Amino acid sequence: MNKFTIKSVHARRVWDSRGEPTIETEVTLRYGAHGRAITPAGASKGSGEVLDLRDGGKAFGGRDVMKAVSAIKTEIAPALNGLDAREQTDIDKILIELDGTKERSRIGGNAITATSMAVLNAAASAEKLPLWRYLAEVHGNNETLSLPLPEIQIFGGGVHAAKRVDVQDFMVIAIAATSYAEALEWSAEIYRHAGILMENTGRLHGVADEGGFWPAFNSNEEAIETLIQAIECAGFTPGQEIALSLDIAASEFGKNGHYTLACDDRVLDSDSLSGLLVDWIERYPIISIEDPLAEDDIEGFTKFTWAVGKRVQVVGDDFLVTNAKHVAKAAKLNACNALLVKPNQAGTITETKAALDMAEKHGYTSIISARSGETADPTIVHLAVGWGVKQIKVGSFSRSERMVKWNEEIRIAEAIGQLKHTRPEGALPAQNTFPWIP
Ligand code: PGA
Ligand code: ZN
Repeated sequence: MNKFTIKSVHARRVWDSRGEPTIETEVTLRYGAHGRAITPAGASKGSGEVLDLRDGGKAFGGRDVMKAVSAIKTEIAPALNGLDAREQTDIDKILIELDGTKERSRIGGNAITATSMAVLNAAASAEKLPLWRYLAEVHGNNETLSLPLPEIQIFGGGVHAAKRVDVQDFMVIAIAATSYAEALEWSAEIYRHAGILMENTGRLHGVADEGGFWPAFNSNEEAIETLIQAIECAGFTPGQEIALSLDIAASEFGKNGHYTLACDDRVLDSDSLSGLLVDWIERYPIISIEDPLAEDDIEGFTKFTWAVGKRVQVVGDDFLVTNAKHVAKAAKLNACNALLVKPNQAGTITETKAALDMAEKHGYTSIISARSGETADPTIVHLAVGWGVKQIKVGSFSRSERMVKWNEEIRIAEAIGQLKHTRPEGALPAQNTFPWIP
């Protein structure tokens, strides 16, 4: 028995940024250290994610999590009591076996994710280290610590905005900023000017799920045009200082090779959607595109990556669901070149790291990401720094569940004395020959 020995595992129902129930697990160790974590929730989910177990029934639209909360107390707690919180791999294995189903439908992927992350937080706390430093020490990359480059949403669309436009995220990346703090300053100005533009044109209708402005546009491209204008109004040169990043989230409007762009009143096949996106890449300073095709369209992904993979980051989110096997398969087919990393898609810390390692092995870039249903839990920011993930995406520049993460990175930046350096070497694909990059 030592300071890392698990003494108790407690769970409670808490509430996320959409006002929906979610799970918080609290792990207490023998001499008082403890760690907490809350599972976030996606709205545009990949079908291969571990299951987010909900109670069904009338209350909260069937979204309650009391079954999963009770499984943590009655099944997980006794299984973990007495174990060493540093043994993350063993603990995650026990959690997976305890559930016993492929999709984590018995105890719930959400219950297991919160617990896995809470164990990690508890171990760091017993070591009296912030999580980012604990991870860096465990993984031996203390020397190479760097801050992830942020991609920040300005307009939120897709299912985060009742499908007001089809494309889900219209984001900016401050490619020429010389510090993390400066990247935030530039993005803050762009966000502010986007708001002014929307107000001046009578289109300001609040914000979408991740805090980006509600996309009151008549076409998807109008959102891109307005984003370019916002960048210019803020005094920046698109493509020189600020690049664009889009999350198409195509699984939400496409299946079996048919894509319905409701906002543009068009139905496209896979090649035509690819063609449309390539046209945007040629006309706008886009350096990253996530889920350009639907998760079932591997051939479409492969063709798209063949066409633009040397110029832009082609990111698999719903397509790869933070799953090492999916990453290996995609790499074999050259189906994309970057991984979006979401711990609650993978289900445990160990599986999340495995997907990240697989991405690195195949020369993929990686972006750690929040979900559309979030809380004040900052764990992912620590994972990004501690694991050396070079990009981060936590939504827009408003709403506290987003700002708490950007602000946590400011504190870490100060602690590691890297306020000066924001664009870590290799954040974007090395082969990137896109003319927009300075
Ligand atoms: P989600 O969206 O959390 O609703 O899945 C985030 C994303 O697609 O990146
Ligand atoms: Zn996505």
